[in-house]
Amino acid sequence: MDKNKSLRSQEWFGKIDTLGFTHRSWTKNQGYPDHLFDGRPVIGICNTWSDLTPCNSHLRIIAEMVKRGVYEAGGFPLEFPVMSLGEILMRPTTMLFRNLASMDVEETIRANPLDGVVLLTGCDKTTPSTLMGACSVGLPTIVVPGGPMLNGKYRGRDIGSGTDLWKFSADYRAGVISKEDYQEAESCMSRSDGHCMTMGTASTMACMVEALGMTLPGAAAIPAPDSRRRRLAHLSGNRIVEMVHENLQPAAILTRSAFENAIKINSAIGGSTNFVIHLLAIAGRIGVELTIDDFDILGSAMPLIVNLMPSGDKLMEDFYYAGGLPAVVQELKSELDLDALTVTGKTIGENTTGAPCYDRETIATVKKPFQQNVGLAVLYGNLCENGAVIKPSAATAALLQHRGRAVVFEDIDDLHAHIDDPDLEVDESNILVLKNVGPKGYPGMPEVGNFELPKRLLESGIRDMIRISDGRMSGTAFGTVVLHVAPEAAVGGNLALVKNGDYIELDVPNRRLHLDVSDAELTQRRKAWQPPEPHMKRGYVKMYLDHVQQANLGADFDFLTGNSGAFVSPGNH
Ligand code: FES
Repeated sequence: MDKNKSLRSQEWFGKIDTLGFTHRSWTKNQGYPDHLFDGRPVIGICNTWSDLTPCNSHLRIIAEMVKRGVYEAGGFPLEFPVMSLGEILMRPTTMLFRNLASMDVEETIRANPLDGVVLLTGCDKTTPSTLMGACSVGLPTIVVPGGPMLNGKYRGRDIGSGTDLWKFSADYRAGVISKEDYQEAESCMSRSDGHCMTMGTASTMACMVEALGMTLPGAAAIPAPDSRRRRLAHLSGNRIVEMVHENLQPAAILTRSAFENAIKINSAIGGSTNFVIHLLAIAGRIGVELTIDDFDILGSAMPLIVNLMPSGDKLMEDFYYAGGLPAVVQELKSELDLDALTVTGKTIGENTTGAPCYDRETIATVKKPFQQNVGLAVLYGNLCENGAVIKPSAATAALLQHRGRAVVFEDIDDLHAHIDDPDLEVDESNILVLKNVGPKGYPGMPEVGNFELPKRLLESGIRDMIRISDGRMSGTAFGTVVLHVAPEAAVGGNLALVKNGDYIELDVPNRRLHLDVSDAELTQRRKAWQPPEPHMKRGYVKMYLDHVQQANLGADFDFLTGNSGAFVSPGNH
């Protein structure tokens, strides 16, 4: 773009009239001098900081570093808060609010005098929600992830967010460790700023935005407290000003090639199953054709070359010291489209040329990977006519082909009430089925798909069984867990019709999930089926229930798909 061409923000700040006076005068109450309104790029810093989102609690400091970079490059930074989605404290589930947060981001960007945007992200949903919103506007955008926590340390060994929580919890329920041990582990697990440091959903999302080309190279893995995280923020502030001058918009970066690269990279790093749902939603906003099948077609044959929990035994800090995502891109270069453009204005290939790997125990070679064929598998069958997903690398290999008797829980309350019932007829060969935890069923599609096993089986040493649900699973979790069953039970998918004692066949190599009940019997059961009562008849939850789409479509609202551009009417005041 011609540097002298008037920027969008000048529609607010550039006029010598009543409106121009108003916009400048009130903004000057923060002490900004006249020259900041002279036509330089105005950069919005979209901050998901919140005390209620512990993973993002350091983002005010990161915002200051971005501002330094923006000022240095000749821009004018203006920071603004948006709805922050904290995975740990929000109920019933942050996923219920991802689309709401994306609307907040979209409307705030469009309504204000901004020329470019920096998205400060961290905890799981803060990345997809902000990027979805920014894509629906289309101004030049760069993402600055907040970075992972330092490795957890417990009695001389590394422990990982979530992944070790599930293990500690199973051991405590089984009586293997004491209450004191269990409580001590709490403080050892989360010991610095940053998001979960396993390859959970937050790390997966950070890697996703880097793989898509929406961050500076290496942004995903730098630990939150490392000074190089602040340096990255500073440099991102520099770069967004240049991006505005170049008019480098997300649509030029988020092409089909970028999405394909991200899918392949996600498989190779052992990323979260939540990646599917968020990438589909982002693709829907930017207008790239992407289906659930692409994740299997492009990703399932990829090798696992990153050894991070929950698929491996290392953590994000190790990943950073090993070379981070640039080293992964280099290793996968024959599989990727290296010509995909990134926010640097260069291609992903140019950004990563010669990126070294310093630790082959953390980042393996393609020739000698940690596992072969590890991407997410997309299953079909009469139990999931529109698809379901499973992460084979986090599953028990012996269970990937299994026929078993169903033990059914009608909803999450039924699960809590009966999973530990001593009279529950269950053994490790059974398949546990949980209904009504999908987008509409819960509502919000919570991360309960990896629900805990019956205490009696845990005490006998069983640590994994096949579990099937229309919900999601924490990216830090593991197990033979079939997720995202679509259509979900609450809208009448066949999942709603499963009964105790039915036989189910799971055949991951052949991508099949089959309920062994005749069509005639299913038709009879459907006649007796009643949809659940709506959870809310007013407010945001009603809007959510009316408009959320199924998991195979990214669970975005039907009316949010697409892009409305950056134009906004000047209004009449
Ligand atoms: Fe925030 Fe895991 S709880 S990233």
